Amino acid sequence: MCGIVGYIGKNEAEPILLDGLRRLEYRGYDSAGISVINGKKIETVKAVGKIAELEEKLSKKDVKGNIGIAHTRWATHGKPCEKNSHPHSDCKGDIFLVHNGIIENYQELKDDLKKLGHKFKSETDSEVVAHLIEDLMKKYDFKTAVAKTLKMLKGTYGFAIVSKSEPEKLIIARNGSPLLLGIGKDEYVVASDASAIIRHTKRVVYLEDGEMAVLEKDGYEISSMHEKIIKNREESEIDWSIEEAEKQGFDHFMIKEIFEQPQAVTDAVRGRINVSDGNAKLGGLRDVSKELREIERIIIVSCGTSYYAGLVGEYMIEEYAGIPVEVEYASEFRYRKPIIDSKTAVIAISQSGETADTLAAIREAKNKGALTLGIVNAVGSTIARETDAGVYNHAGPEIGVASTKAFTSQLSILVLFALFLGRQRNMSLVTGQRIAKELEKLPKLIEEVLKQNDDIKKIMKKYSKYRDFLYLGRKYNMPIAYEGALKIKEISYVHAEGYPSGEMKHGPIALIDENFPVVVLAPKDSVYEKTISGIEEVKARGGKILAIGTKGDKNIAKISDDVIYVPKTLEMLSPIVNVVPLQLLSYYAGTLKGIDVDKPRNLAKSVTVE
Ligand code: F6R
Repeated sequence: MCGIVGYIGKNEAEPILLDGLRRLEYRGYDSAGISVINGKKIETVKAVGKIAELEEKLSKKDVKGNIGIAHTRWATHGKPCEKNSHPHSDCKGDIFLVHNGIIENYQELKDDLKKLGHKFKSETDSEVVAHLIEDLMKKYDFKTAVAKTLKMLKGTYGFAIVSKSEPEKLIIARNGSPLLLGIGKDEYVVASDASAIIRHTKRVVYLEDGEMAVLEKDGYEISSMHEKIIKNREESEIDWSIEEAEKQGFDHFMIKEIFEQPQAVTDAVRGRINVSDGNAKLGGLRDVSKELREIERIIIVSCGTSYYAGLVGEYMIEEYAGIPVEVEYASEFRYRKPIIDSKTAVIAISQSGETADTLAAIREAKNKGALTLGIVNAVGSTIARETDAGVYNHAGPEIGVASTKAFTSQLSILVLFALFLGRQRNMSLVTGQRIAKELEKLPKLIEEVLKQNDDIKKIMKKYSKYRDFLYLGRKYNMPIAYEGALKIKEISYVHAEGYPSGEMKHGPIALIDENFPVVVLAPKDSVYEKTISGIEEVKARGGKILAIGTKGDKNIAKISDDVIYVPKTLEMLSPIVNVVPLQLLSYYAGTLKGIDVDKPRNLAKSVTVE
C-alpha cells in the first residue's frame, strides 16, 4: 500500500528519500514521486512503475535541498499515471503533499473548491487537501491552515506537507494511517513504516490519530488538530536492525523469511514457556490476567493469512481451554452487529498491526465493552497500541508480501494462549507439560522440513504445468489447506482452492480430473483414516495427489503420486510444521514462472485502506 517518506535536516534530502522509498517497495505500489524544497523553489519529479524509473528521471535533474517528501502510490482513486501520483499540489504550486489513506468526503470538498475557482490536475482524493490548505493560507499561517484543513476531512490519512511560503517547515499529520517520526542527530526522517527510518535512527515517536507535528531543523512540536500543544511525548526504540531487513544472500525476502522460521518460532516462545509448570508466561497479558480468567467467549478478528492462523487458534483454544471461540473476517465483523459483552475477549491477529479492517474491528469491539487483545508483529503499531493488552510476535520485519514467518509465529503464540487460558481452567499439569515440551522442539522439526528444499523444488517443477489446484485438509490442518491455496494463488497467479477434506464430496469433486492436482494434508492424526478415504475418492476419479505425510508413513506413498514427509508432532502443533512445505511449493511455483514473489502484482503488504 502507499508509503510516505519525509526528510528535514543537514543532509541532501533526495538520496535519503529515494532510499526510503526503496525500503517501502515491498508494501506494493504502482507509481512514485518526490518533492524537494530549496528556499522558494520546489522541485517535483514523478514516475509510473518502479522506483528505478523515478531514479532515472531524477538523475537528469539537479535536485538540491535539505527538506523533502516522497511517496509510493497504490492506486485507490484514479488510475496509476503520473498526474495521479504524489506529491500533489495546489493551484499555484506552492504547497506539496503526500498522502496515505482515503478522504471519504473529497467529492463534496472538491465541488466546493471548484466553485471557489480551484483548478484540479488529478482524479485523486488527496489533491483536494492541498487546495484546502491553499485556501486557508489566505488567512492563516501554514500550521494553522493545516490544522483547520484536517478538521474538515472525513476518512483516514497520513500526510507529509511542505509549503513555499514557510520553506523551513515540514508538517506531518495522521489519522488512521501509520506515521512515525524518526529522531536522528540534527535531522528527522518521517515514514509510514519503520523500515524507511531504521538506517538513520532507532529513536522514534509514534503520532496518534488526530495529531500533527511541525518539524524544523532544530526541533519539532506535536499538537492536536484542535491546536493543543502536546508536551513530553514519549520516544520509543525500534527493536530490530537494518541487517534483519536485508536479503543476506537469499534470492528473495520470501525464501529468506521461510528459512527464518525456526528462529521466528524460537523467538515467539523464548522466555514464555515454563515446562515444569506446564504453562505459558505471557508478560503482555499480566495486567488482564484476572479478566481473562473470567471471560466466557473469544472472538478472533483478522484478515488473510492472519485469519487462517485464527482458525487454527479456534481449534486449539476450544480443545485445550474449553472457551468457545469464533473467528471472523475483520472486514465482516466491523459492519455487522456482533454480540459482544464484558465477558467476551476480542483478539486481533495482525502481522503489520496496521490492517485497516482489523483495526476498525478492534475499535468496534472496544466500543462495545469487550476486552481487546493483540497478537501483533510490528512493535508500536496502531493495533498493538490500541488493544488493552497483547503479545508481540518478535518475528522481526517481514518484507516479502506473502506472509510466512509471521504465520508460524502467530500459530506458536496461539499455542501459548491456549496453554495459558487452559491452565487457568481445567487443563491438567501433565497435558500442559506435554504441549510445552513439544512446542520447544518445533524449531528443530521445521529445520528438518527446510532440509528438503531441493526435493520440494523438484516436485514443484513437475506440477508447474498445471493451472488449477485443490488443497485439502481436515481438523487442525483445514486452515493450512486454505493457507496453502492462498499462498500459491498470490505468488504464482495459478488458481487454487482450499477446502475442508470432508467437504470435497459436496461439490469440488466435480472438478477432479487428471489436470486438477490435489494437495492433501495427511498427517498421522486423529482424522488420518478419513483423510485417506478422501485421497481414494480423488484417485478413483483420475486425480493426481501430492500428499504432505508424516515421516515413516509408507501407506501414504502407495496411494499418492508424490509425498513430502514432515516429522511427527502433537496434532495441535502439526499446522506449524505442515505449512512449511506448502510455502516452499508456492515459492517455487512463483519463481519458476519468473514472478517477483516479493512484490506480486496488485498486492500490498500492509492493507491500510478498506
Ligand atoms: C497473505 C498475506 C495477507 C495478510 C493480510 C493481513 O500472504 O500476507 O493475506 O495476512 O493482509 O495482514 P496483517 O497480518 O498485517 O493484518
